[in-house]
Amino acid sequence: MSSSSADERTLVLIKPDAVRRGLVGEIISRFERKGLRIDAMQTRTLGGDLADQHYAEHVDKPFYPPLKAFMTGGPLVALVLSGDQVIDVVRAMIGSTDGRKAAAGTIRGDLSLSNRENLVHASDSPDSAKRELGLWFPELG
Ligand code: TYD
Ligand code: MG
Repeated sequence: MSSSSADERTLVLIKPDAVRRGLVGEIISRFERKGLRIDAMQTRTLGGDLADQHYAEHVDKPFYPPLKAFMTGGPLVALVLSGDQVIDVVRAMIGSTDGRKAAAGTIRGDLSLSNRENLVHASDSPDSAKRELGLWFPELG
């Protein structure tokens, strides 16, 4: 796994459902086997304020209150992953939002049956990666 200055970084959250179900190793293993690097990793329980900031685009949506309760309801694992085109690569690996519709072979498609408890968050663009990395791992600059 060689590193290059062109490599991007992305924020990944292994959500509380994955921790509860004992799927942390399975999920991290997929990222490692793909050849991505783990630059930082931390177990933490999300507080309400960071939840609101993280999901700023969704705070006014009807699904947000139960989403917030789920995301703050138990420990999660936050990771910084890096690699060539890592933002798009990880989004492809996690699959579409609804686990019932996500393609087989993706993390959500293989392991989730829910549109809320879908195991993984990943930044969806360079701008959101920058914003989310600043919220979760400000010390990385
Ligand atoms: P979104 O950003 O649309 O999906 P993604 O995680 O694939 O970027 O939504 C953020 C999270 O909100 C999603 O992972 C699960 C939750 N969610 C719901 O609970 N209900 C919904 O109808 C949608 C669209 C999302
Ligand atoms: Mg999103």
